[in-house]
Amino acid sequence: MTRKENTRVIYPGTFDPITNGHTSIIERASAIFGEVRVAIAGNPSKKTMFTLAERETFARVVTEHLENTSVSSFSGLLVDFAKQIDINILVRGLRTTADFEYENSLADVYRKIVPSMESVFLTPTNEKYRYLSSTIVREIAIHGGDTTPFVHTFVANALDRKRDQI
Ligand code: COA
Repeated sequence: MTRKENTRVIYPGTFDPITNGHTSIIERASAIFGEVRVAIAGNPSKKTMFTLAERETFARVVTEHLENTSVSSFSGLLVDFAKQIDINILVRGLRTTADFEYENSLADVYRKIVPSMESVFLTPTNEKYRYLSSTIVREIAIHGGDTTPFVHTFVANALDRKRDQI
């Protein structure tokens, strides 16, 4: 496949923490598009285990092998941030039909606010990512389980340290 060198996309999320499922989407987006901006929500509607600085560090560590990918954080509306950095294509992962319902309505809202905003959905290539989420990873960590099958070792170590603090 030829990479669309002039196409820039944004991959937003809370990433609390970033999982191998998220990384797989980023790697695939980076193979398709010229530039991928991973955008971390600074004030998500959910309470996070990791600070914004920690979530940003994780994202930088897991994407350091991708030369066309960078990491930023944003607060406020995602579409406003996208406009600010002049990107009008969002990439989101679609794991299940439930994700589809939610993402489809979000894409509608984004288009209502910014008519030129497009959403591109990537489905998991590997079954093991289909039911993976940041919440599941945090649960495993809190209860003393091994998170290394689901997250980068750097993130797994941070999860272990966080567990020891609570
Ligand atoms: N692999 C593993 N997990 C995945 C995944 C994948 N490929 N794709 C999604 N997920 C998980 C996420 O980890 C998250 O799990 P969690 O709830 O256990 O943390 C869940 O699916 C999706 O969470 P959701 O909150 O929908 O999205 P998000 O955390 O990925 O990102 C933003 C949310 C950043 C897009 C959104 O909150 C946002 O834009 N906020 C700013 C305000 C705004 O503009 N809101 C939009 C309404 S106008």
